[in-house]
Amino acid sequence: MTFSQPNPKDQINAKNLSFVYESVYKANRDEISAIMNKEGEKPSDSPDLDKYKALNLINLSICQGKFIAMVGDTGSGKSTLVRTFNGLIPSFYRGIFFGYVGVFGKDSIQEKISTLSQDVGLVFQNPENQLVAMTVEREIAFGLENIGLKRELIQKKISQILEYLGISHLRMRHPYELSGGEQQRVAIASIMTLEPSIIILDEPTATLDPQAAESVLNLLEKLNKDKKITIIIIEHRLEVILPYCTEIIIVQNGQILQHASTQEVLNSDYLYSTNVRIPEYIILFKKLKSNKIYSGIIPSTIEQAAHIMRELIS
Ligand SMILES: Nc1ncnc2c1ncn2[C@@H]1O[C@H](COP(=O)(O)OP(=O)(O)OP(=O)(O)O)[C@@H](O)[C@H]1O
Ligand SMILES: [Mg+2]
Repeated sequence: MTFSQPNPKDQINAKNLSFVYESVYKANRDEISAIMNKEGEKPSDSPDLDKYKALNLINLSICQGKFIAMVGDTGSGKSTLVRTFNGLIPSFYRGIFFGYVGVFGKDSIQEKISTLSQDVGLVFQNPENQLVAMTVEREIAFGLENIGLKRELIQKKISQILEYLGISHLRMRHPYELSGGEQQRVAIASIMTLEPSIIILDEPTATLDPQAAESVLNLLEKLNKDKKITIIIIEHRLEVILPYCTEIIIVQNGQILQHASTQEVLNSDYLYSTNVRIPEYIILFKKLKSNKIYSGIIPSTIEQAAHIMRELIS
């Protein structure tokens, strides 16, 4: 089953979404204009435009409360896609935008980024680019001041958020003097001030050691479970994210190759046709299945794999 049918619980809905970056348009202006002006043809559907598109006819629904891993080859369009979810595309990254992105039923093109970012928080790979204040406290206060809260309430909220994220001790520290994992937590804290329903993280653990990565992911799992916040994580290392995600979106050549439950993705063929690095134990089970030595499900974690192996040989 793929999740393409709109559902009333959908938080994000993309319909026939395509995007050409402005710099690509400028470098190929004549050819692209000729395609766009072809009579009797809908430019967004024209295959001649495909090679210029960073996103190509995306249809996607994101449902409340999921923990989603977005994977795909480098340059496949993952970062581009999530930039359409909070209006960074096309407001900040300009270009030719076709189709529709609805965020809680609001047309992303019509809404201001400031409105959309109250629903959708985006954390980048290098959070230091996102942190601007002199102290962690000021960093978190920034979002709260912007929505016009009183000083006492701001102080109280900061304490609550810091405590919840386990970083109260960092309150008066300078964001630049923190470790990568601590900076990620502060970036998540400052996004949480707006109480978004969805938090998207673009490769949040890429620069972290395994322990720090695990602690950021555990925190996101807590937000997902306690507060029902939808989490979307772009992640190259499948083995890092598999213990957490309930759904996987595979992006390939600017398109959605598959969007399904983690189990369904591991047990069908699409993932194996990409260059995504797949954990060895999964490849092993896939081979056992292809060779008809094993007919059960492909496990998502190493613990499950070990458990199945033990049963198989006992
Ligand atoms: N700001 C930009 N201007 C022009 N082209 C861009 C821009 N950002 C990305 N692209 C192009 O759009 C396509 C999709 O890039 P994108 O960054 O979305 O891929 P990605 O899946 O996030 O890759 P990675 O895994 O390497 O981060 C690529 O061809 C890329 O070169
Ligand atoms: Mg990217």
